[in-house]
Amino acid sequence: MQICDYPNWLINNTYCGNRAVNRLSFQGLLYCDPKTRMPLDSWFFRDYDTLKKAADEIKTTFPEGAEVWDFACSNGEETISIKSLLEDPKYKVIGYDSSTSALKLAKKGIYTVFSNWYDSFLLPNEDPQGEEKVLKDKFYRIMEETFPQREDRYINNKATYFDIKKFFVNFQEKFFRISPQKLEQIDIRKGNINCIENYRNQDKVGAVFFRNALYQMVGNDLNETIEQRKYFNSRSVNNKKEIIEKFVDRIHRKLENGGIFVIGDHIKDHLFLADYNLSDDEVVLFKDTPFFDIGDKKHVCASNLKLFKESPLKTSLEKNNRFIPVGFSKTWLTYGGNKITVPTVWKKIR
Ligand SMILES: C[S@@+](CC[C@H](N)C(=O)[O-])C[C@H]1O[C@@H](n2cnc3c(N)ncnc32)[C@H](O)[C@@H]1O
Repeated sequence: MQICDYPNWLINNTYCGNRAVNRLSFQGLLYCDPKTRMPLDSWFFRDYDTLKKAADEIKTTFPEGAEVWDFACSNGEETISIKSLLEDPKYKVIGYDSSTSALKLAKKGIYTVFSNWYDSFLLPNEDPQGEEKVLKDKFYRIMEETFPQREDRYINNKATYFDIKKFFVNFQEKFFRISPQKLEQIDIRKGNINCIENYRNQDKVGAVFFRNALYQMVGNDLNETIEQRKYFNSRSVNNKKEIIEKFVDRIHRKLENGGIFVIGDHIKDHLFLADYNLSDDEVVLFKDTPFFDIGDKKHVCASNLKLFKESPLKTSLEKNNRFIPVGFSKTWLTYGGNKITVPTVWKKIR
């Protein structure tokens, strides 16, 4: 068994993005679905490098228009962001989420933007420059400020919101809704990506997004050693390879040739806890977990994790050369540590 800080395929990739977010980093974005206990966190233009690359690829490959399915859209910030990058009505963007709570928030249609968070450049009194200015203009073409009653101010990332609110005296928050004349362009429905073949019709689509959610499907919390998983009530499933393979097969069947598959930038979509039955040469021992706190020099949850040496997602996507990576993002491997590059935009080539 190889022992290392992180697998080679992650180190060797070259980073293509160029956007740095200089804001606070918090551990928890913890509005959870009360049934599944899974987080619904999202914000506008999350991992913009990936969104932009995906939108550019879609426009180049499908100049006549295409349908774009945004699975795991939570209550819709992501779907709205994608639509604002694919403004032309020839691109139909549909958001799907499997959580009833997320759908309840989407129905309310009230979106919160607050200070010191990744999307706070969208606040009316902010004066962003360059790329952020362009995004802000696009955002205000779809969204407008609204003034909801206190009881209607739902948010999908409560824990972070309250942490920031406590910390900053000049904390600001604003509420937005989709402008009535744009409402028909934003379509959010209940849907599970595992049933992708059952939705709408047999037609193929130009792009499928499933960002920061695969880890939920396979319980890849990245905070349990194999030993701990034997004793505790673990969410981690032990046939990830098989589940992910079927998941990729379904997406491959649903995509047009040249279609785009987009995965999240969270490290939990890229490093996977090993299944029990893997041989030693398929496993790597990972010294510092993604939850190693460099500041406090302590392992928050676990160390010496057994991980897949090669991501089963990457292996499935690359099977028979059916997908190639065309877009990358940078993500934190450990809190406060260096960022590493992960492939987030994949193109179906056969
Ligand atoms: C952490 S949020 C990510 C939201 C958004 N994609 C983003 O990156 O900002 C994960 C979302 O995935 C949804 N989800 C998890 N498994 C799903 C599945 N099999 N099909 C559709 N949605 C799913 C959850 O309900 C939750 O809203």
